[in-house]
Amino acid sequence: MPEIHIMNTGKTLKYNSGDSLLQVLLENQVFVNNPCNGKGSCGKCKVRVLKGNLDEITESEHKSLKTEEIEKGIRLSCLVNPQEDLTLELFQEEGNHDILTTGHIPEFEFRPSITKKIFYIEKPDLQNQISFEDSICKALDIKHMDLEILQSAEIFEGVATGVFSGENLIAIEKGDTSDKIHGVAVDIGTTTVVTSLVDMISGKELASASVINPQKKFGLDVLTRITYQIENPECAAKNLQDEIVSSINDMITGICREKNIERNSIYEVSVAANSTMMHFLLGIDATPIGKSPYAPVFVKSKHIRAADIGLDFGRGTRLYCLPAVSAYIGADIVAGAYVCELHTSKQNVLFVDIGTNGEMVLSKQGSLISCSCAAGPALEGMNISCGMRAAEGAIEDVTITENGIDLKTIGNHEAAGICGSGILAVIRELVRTGIVKRDGGFIKKEKLEEYDYRGSLIKTDGKKRELILKKAPEPLYITQSDVRQVQLAKGALLSGFYALLKKGGIEMEILDKVVIAGQFGSHLPAESLTGTGILPEGVSSKLTYVGNSSKTGAYMALMSRFVKDELEELAQRIDYMELGASEGYEKLFTSCLRF
Ligand code: FES
Repeated sequence: MPEIHIMNTGKTLKYNSGDSLLQVLLENQVFVNNPCNGKGSCGKCKVRVLKGNLDEITESEHKSLKTEEIEKGIRLSCLVNPQEDLTLELFQEEGNHDILTTGHIPEFEFRPSITKKIFYIEKPDLQNQISFEDSICKALDIKHMDLEILQSAEIFEGVATGVFSGENLIAIEKGDTSDKIHGVAVDIGTTTVVTSLVDMISGKELASASVINPQKKFGLDVLTRITYQIENPECAAKNLQDEIVSSINDMITGICREKNIERNSIYEVSVAANSTMMHFLLGIDATPIGKSPYAPVFVKSKHIRAADIGLDFGRGTRLYCLPAVSAYIGADIVAGAYVCELHTSKQNVLFVDIGTNGEMVLSKQGSLISCSCAAGPALEGMNISCGMRAAEGAIEDVTITENGIDLKTIGNHEAAGICGSGILAVIRELVRTGIVKRDGGFIKKEKLEEYDYRGSLIKTDGKKRELILKKAPEPLYITQSDVRQVQLAKGALLSGFYALLKKGGIEMEILDKVVIAGQFGSHLPAESLTGTGILPEGVSSKLTYVGNSSKTGAYMALMSRFVKDELEELAQRIDYMELGASEGYEKLFTSCLRF
C-alpha cells in the first residue's frame, strides 16, 4: 500500500490509490481547505509535493496557480490522483482559532426544566410486599415510571433522589444528590462549535470548549455540505451527524474532566444552530434548504432523548433544540433576537449576524421582520487569495500610509494570511486611500504621479493589479478578484439592510440601534463596517456588539422553561422576507455594490 508522509506533522498515512489526494487527506483527518468541495474551482486545496511522482499538471491548476507556485511543486490536491509514495508539505496548519464563547446576557429568572426531589424508598417485608415502582410512585406522587428507568435502576431502599424534566421523572439516584444538577449549552455554527458546561443550580458557566466544526471536511459552507448530501444520499446524513455528535461528545468529556464533574450529572443539553446545522445534528435531510423554494424539513423546537442521536449520556438526559423561523433564519438567530430582547423592545432595533450568510432581524417597537443575504465566504477569509480563518498569524488589521503598510496579526505572529476582519480592514484602507475606486477597480499605476506613494504598493502584471501586503518569505497580496468578492458581500448585506428598513417603514434617522452579533461580527470595528460600506456611515454611533448570542440563547433556554416558551412564541412572530423575491431588489443590490 503506498504511503503519504506529511512533513509539517510527521504523520504517515497508508492509502488505496484511486481517490484524489484531497480525499485521502480528509479521510485521514488531515484538513486541507476545500471551499469548492474538490471541484477544482476555488484553488484553495494547495499542497506542496516535496518527493514523489504525480500526473502532469492539469489545465485548471495552471489557471489557479502562479508560475512560481508551480515551480515550487505546489499542486491542487483535489486534482491529483496519487499512485505512489509521496512526501508533502501542508500550508494551513491548524493553529489556535480565535473563537468567541461569551456575550451579553439579559437578566432573567432561573427556572430550569430539570429539578430534583429527595424522597424515601420503603423497605418491603412479608406484611408489606410493596414493589420498588409503587414505593417510588407513592413517595413522588406519580402514576407510573418509564420502563427504561426500571430496567436501568439499581434496586435499593432508603434515601433517594428523583430527577424530573418538567413533570416527567427521568432518573432515580441513590442518596441525596440534590446538589448536583448540570446541563450543557451548545452553539453549532457552520464554522465553529461552542459548548458550555453549566451548573443548573447556580446558573454559573463552569467551563467552555470550542472547536472548528469538523463537518468542514465536507465543505466550508452550508451549500457545499448540502451538495455533499445530494451527491452521497446513502451515507451523507449519517456522516454529517456523526462528525458533529462526536465533536460535542469529545468537548463534554474534556470539560467534565477539567472540572471534575461526572457526566451522569448532566441532565439536559440545549442547542442553538442555523437551520442546516440543526438538520445535520438530528440526521434529517437538509437538501430542501439548498434549492428553491428553500423550504426546510422542520423549524419547530425538538425535545428528545440526547442518547437518541448518539450523544453519550444515559437515557434520561434530554436534548432541547431551539426553534427556527425558516431555512435561513435559524434557531441561532431566534436565540440572538431573544437575547437582544427585540420582541419586547420599545425602540427600532436592527439585529445583524454577519457570516457566510448575513442574517438580519428588524424590530419596529417589537414587531419583527427578518431577511437573509448570501454574503459568501469572503468576509470569513475564504475564497480570498491569501485568506485564512481567524487563527494565530492571521492579519486582522491593516493601516496604509505614505510610510507603507502596517500589519497587525492575531497573537502577534508572523503574518500567514488574512482573516475576515483583516480583509475588511484592507478594503477600508484601499478605499480610503483611493487605491481602489468607488466602482471597486484598482487605480491604474501608470496614471499616478511619480512621487505618489500608492504606486509602489501596487503590483501590475499585464492587466492584473494587486496590492502587496508582504513580500517575503511567502508573499501576501490582495487581488482585484478579492476586492470583487468583498464587494459582492457588501452589496448583499447593504441591500438587505435597506430592503429590510424599507419593508419595516423605518427611515435611517429613526433607527435607534444596530446590534452586531456572532463570531465574525464581534471582531469588526465600526470603522471597518462603515468604511467598507457594508453598513451606511449613519449607523456608526448606533452600533453595539452582543457577542455569541446564539450560545447565550441556548444557555438561557437551559436555565428556564419560560425562556423555552418565549422562544417558541418569538419564532412564530418573526416574519421572513425573501430578498430575491422583493420588488426592485436587483436594482438596489447593484447600487449597493459601490464602495
Ligand atoms: S480547487 Fe480543490 S478544493 Fe477547490
